[in-house]
Amino acid sequence: MKALIYRKFGPPEVLEWVDDWPEPVPAATDVLVKTVAGGVNPKDVLVRKGWFRRTLARTPLPRVSGLEVSGEIVAVGAAVQAFSVGDRVFGMTNTFAGGVHAELAKFDHDEIFHCPANISMEEAAAVPLAAQTALQALRDCCGLKDGDKILINGASGGVGHFAIQIANALGAEVHAICGPRNLQFVKSLGAHAAYSYADRPAPEIDLAFDAVFDVFGKFKRSAFAKQLGSRGIYVSTVPKPATLWAEGLARAGIVKAGRLVRVHSRSEDLKCLKEWIEGGTLRPHLEKKYPVSQAADAHRHIESKHTVGKICIVF
Ligand SMILES: NC(=O)c1ccc[n+]([C@@H]2O[C@H](COP(=O)([O-])OP(=O)(O)OC[C@H]3O[C@@H](n4cnc5c(N)ncnc54)[C@H](OP(=O)(O)O)[C@@H]3O)[C@@H](O)[C@H]2O)c1
Repeated sequence: MKALIYRKFGPPEVLEWVDDWPEPVPAATDVLVKTVAGGVNPKDVLVRKGWFRRTLARTPLPRVSGLEVSGEIVAVGAAVQAFSVGDRVFGMTNTFAGGVHAELAKFDHDEIFHCPANISMEEAAAVPLAAQTALQALRDCCGLKDGDKILINGASGGVGHFAIQIANALGAEVHAICGPRNLQFVKSLGAHAAYSYADRPAPEIDLAFDAVFDVFGKFKRSAFAKQLGSRGIYVSTVPKPATLWAEGLARAGIVKAGRLVRVHSRSEDLKCLKEWIEGGTLRPHLEKKYPVSQAADAHRHIESKHTVGKICIVF
């Protein structure tokens, strides 16, 4: 089958669209998806560059890139009951190295769900990773509830633009930080107030918050001591030593402190996102679609760290 692979770690040019990759074989609890499009994420870049080498020592090169797709089911394992051949689904693999940006992709049945009916397959491909990250950070790590006030740093990108909408859905008042050219964009998604990080970095927003979601992952909890007081929660996407340390202290009950979100794909969360999308509460913003022949450009785009919403590759 065709697949987007890399034979060595390096810049976007190491990506190749080959046509002789072996087809995945679904196990009893798996489904096989003929892909339409794949969302592109910062982690695709990190893995391609050779980060996490020790964690991924058992996943040798060459490897298939990519963590999320949309497509149509073409085979189901004997134990799968929730899905049938012909279903249109979206999902994210929990396999750390990815491996789904290919003509066919294998998923455990709990990593996918039926596509929302009111968006394109390209838009659906851009939802699973970033929107589940935002959902799990806000609902599970922050415990965000009606009437809470939250500060979101890095609010205009993949995770951030979903986080604004999901925080609103959970009833919170959202204060969003992004670059100067995206202030209107984040307000259009439902932010109560928008600030440019070029004018005022997040720790200088002089308000009290119940939670800070540091999507860009630049800071540590202590930078927000004044805004969060002793009870507010700081959640980051980036596993910095300070965040992991704060998380350990919180687990031991020593301080309320900080958490690191670790996204995990689940049918139930994708179902929740589908319902929000179909009900008009949530909408993915797709900045650009790249044909697979321009996959390296898609990786360069995400490496810029200035994607507005999401981008995808169309297979
Ligand atoms: N732990 C997990 O499970 C998990 C899951 C998903 C993602 N992540 C991580 O989360 C991070 C964000 O992912 P993403 O998909 O949202 O990335 P993205 O789509 O590339 O978005 C990056 C955003 O960061 C903003 N930004 C750039 N410079 C900034 C600055 N100095 N201060 C504040 N914001 C700044 C950009 O805003 P402007 O364009 O407006 O400048 C852009 O909207 C990445 O590091 C990713 O690896 C972790």
